[in-house]
Amino acid sequence: MSKPALKAPMDREALHKKFAELGLRGYWQNERSSQRMEPRLWRWKEVLPALMDAAEVIRIGPDSFRRNIGLQTGSKTLAMGFQIVLPGEAAAAHRHTNTALRFVVSGGGAYTTSNGEPMVMEPGDLLIQPNWVWHDHVNTSKEPIIWIDALDAGLVNYLDAHIFREEWAEGKQQPLTRGHGAARRLYGPARQPKVDKEGAAGVPYHYKWQEALDALKELGEQGLQDPYDGLYIEYKNPIDGGHTFLTMTCYLQMLQPGQETKFHRHTGTAMYHSVQGRGVTMIDKTDTVEMQWDHHDSYTVPPWRWHAHKNLSQTEPAILFSFTDRPLLEMTGLDREELG
Ligand SMILES: [Fe+2]
Ligand SMILES: [Fe+2]
Repeated sequence: MSKPALKAPMDREALHKKFAELGLRGYWQNERSSQRMEPRLWRWKEVLPALMDAAEVIRIGPDSFRRNIGLQTGSKTLAMGFQIVLPGEAAAAHRHTNTALRFVVSGGGAYTTSNGEPMVMEPGDLLIQPNWVWHDHVNTSKEPIIWIDALDAGLVNYLDAHIFREEWAEGKQQPLTRGHGAARRLYGPARQPKVDKEGAAGVPYHYKWQEALDALKELGEQGLQDPYDGLYIEYKNPIDGGHTFLTMTCYLQMLQPGQETKFHRHTGTAMYHSVQGRGVTMIDKTDTVEMQWDHHDSYTVPPWRWHAHKNLSQTEPAILFSFTDRPLLEMTGLDREELG
């Protein structure tokens, strides 16, 4: 009788090779499956020339339906970038399952049409287009317009839930069916008891710069300081008073001259843009990364990293616009904050 063949002893390498063939992976094999997000800063003096270069090379229409330049933030949920639209340019009407926000950096007089309403964009304005709201952009002014263009793209892509539609003739804008300010009248504090969201996850809205600034100043006059963020407002959802969107939320904060906040950390990714002034955001309590920001610089604060802000001017207030994915963390029971 012949002896049964001896099974070759299997080592780790052979085991892992076999696993790979079968589409399996031992949990002990795990390195971190993806790169951890790290803090990063983009200087406006470098970003602006890059935007102008893009405006020269890429034409809206023939080359691309948009001219968005993304910041490589490493965020798993959010995308942040800038859009530049030159005088006479127009981007085609479309809608998608990404939720979008636009915060105007410079320019004025161009408009974004949201569900038929032309919203004229002025510096510091915030325009929101929740998931499935029609939008397009037209610059009828004499100067380029630049805005921060942010989306929940990482999340939507992760879930393979990206759907995109163009309904009007390719490259065309939607008809203007509502007057200026319609959303503010339809969805403002005095409105119909029940609001029709027109099939979208929310309604488009236009938050005006001056009103947000006045709110910050009022907080200052009342001495209503947040120890971690200074004078701090959230752009509330016009319908339910909750976060700006289901997936993201937006803030504006003012640091008074010389003000320094306390450290805290929280789950959720935060993206910042300096609207005015100069300061520093310190990340981590040891081996601190100092994000020194100036007018129109942008930077990220990754999840669960200690951070505090300081206004480096002794005479001028500093103002930061930011947005986070906090609603997602709350929805999933993962929202955590630790105070320093
Ligand atoms: Fe879009
Ligand atoms: Fe924070």
